[in-house]
Amino acid sequence: MYKIAVAGTGYVGLVAGVCFAEMGHKVTCVDIDENKIKVMKSGISPIYETGLEELMKKNYEAGRIDYTTDYQLAYQEANAVFLGVGTPELPDGSANLSYIATVARQVAESVEKDCLVVVKSTVPVGTNDKVDRFIQDFLVNDVHVEVASNPEFLAQGSAVEDTLHAERVIIGTESEWAENLLKKIYAPFDLPIVSVNRRSAEMIKYASNDFLALKISYMNDIANLCELVGADVQDVASGMSYDKRIGAKFLNAGIGYGGSCFPKDTKALEHLAREHHYDLKTVKAAIDVNNVQKTALFKKARNRLITFSGLKVAILGLTFKPGTDDLRESPSLDNIPLLLDQGADIYAYDPVGVKNFADIYSEGDFSQGSIKYVKSVEEALLNANVCFIFTEWNEIKQLTPQQYKKLMRTPLVFDGRNIYPTISMAQEGVEYHSIGRKTETVNVREEKLNELQSTRS
Ligand code: UDX
Repeated sequence: MYKIAVAGTGYVGLVAGVCFAEMGHKVTCVDIDENKIKVMKSGISPIYETGLEELMKKNYEAGRIDYTTDYQLAYQEANAVFLGVGTPELPDGSANLSYIATVARQVAESVEKDCLVVVKSTVPVGTNDKVDRFIQDFLVNDVHVEVASNPEFLAQGSAVEDTLHAERVIIGTESEWAENLLKKIYAPFDLPIVSVNRRSAEMIKYASNDFLALKISYMNDIANLCELVGADVQDVASGMSYDKRIGAKFLNAGIGYGGSCFPKDTKALEHLAREHHYDLKTVKAAIDVNNVQKTALFKKARNRLITFSGLKVAILGLTFKPGTDDLRESPSLDNIPLLLDQGADIYAYDPVGVKNFADIYSEGDFSQGSIKYVKSVEEALLNANVCFIFTEWNEIKQLTPQQYKKLMRTPLVFDGRNIYPTISMAQEGVEYHSIGRKTETVNVREEKLNELQSTRS
């Protein structure tokens, strides 16, 4: 059992802290936000994440986890301090490292015994070396402090599961002492550990995330071509997935990737390459494709409808993916302003994302169009002229073509997540546009004739 301090209680920090506690370590989570600390002490998670609150309560009651703003107290006795603070994107695409620097200095000024500083935040290659030098410069007591890299690979919505059952733990260290200590901290997790140097660990994180972003952009590119040549991107992906070298995951074409990682990490790696006068063409292409893809569905709808003025527009899903209330870089944020500009009267539904969305777009009238938040998919669809699907929440996936047909004034659906079989929507008389697939049209007159003939014969 080790004494662990975790700086930052966002997705990375809080989930790591809770999982270390679950593995038996004694954890103190540090944050500057007094309110957040109070909330967490009362057993409430500040983020929506499956299974997190239960583990917070269990480990708090067992005395294995606590929360504080008093960083000095937390760092002075810690065997390891994990950094899970944000590295938000700066306007030029580079990562803002000011939070990392602040915590590094606090650690240097607080530690009273040998301590390993473990950077979990995603940072540009070479940052850990800089943090190490920075800490040595500000170290107050005569103790050994070293920096290690331990990038995080959790996905939002399955963060706890991803951490407790990670496919691998990457540790980047520069000494045996650091490597052994990190291995011992992770021993109770019983997971495969890949031990490399600090710079390689930092690079593994970017290379992995950007590869996945590239995979999605590639499929979106192929989807757009599928539409032009009459192929079906889901069938194409399915055919590709049997090749183990390609794999079956992250082949879903759609409305483009969002979230706190892919958009930021692709730009950061591209920025790093530019700094080294290297043209990182593949990652640049992933970014370009994604930028176009995010509004491709809106453009399709605009071509079909000419204008949205005076139309009731149902929006199903606001978050960047299901299982989270996070809106960062969500395609809904690109599309809704365009719809409002065109005078749409929006009725938006999301099971957990409305509060965050309403902080950006409060309900009411805009200079053009309006937005109203509703509590059910049915309410959003009732008498709607057109429907957009931005997030594949389960309750949206469970809707049937009949429900669209029955509830909407005109059953016209633009699906950014390719949820339903195109033919079943067409058979029910729903005009259904998706990504990389044909819009099926069923000739109703012909069907009726066939029916008539079969009843006669
Ligand atoms: C991602 C990585 O998966 C994770 O390993 C890393 O630590 C952080 O970034 P996250 O952003 O939480 O996690 O979500 P993820 O499930 O990867 O989805 C990212 C975006 O890609 C979403 O907008 C999602 O809708 C989109 N996506 C994903 C697709 O468009 N198609 C796919 O096939 C998969």
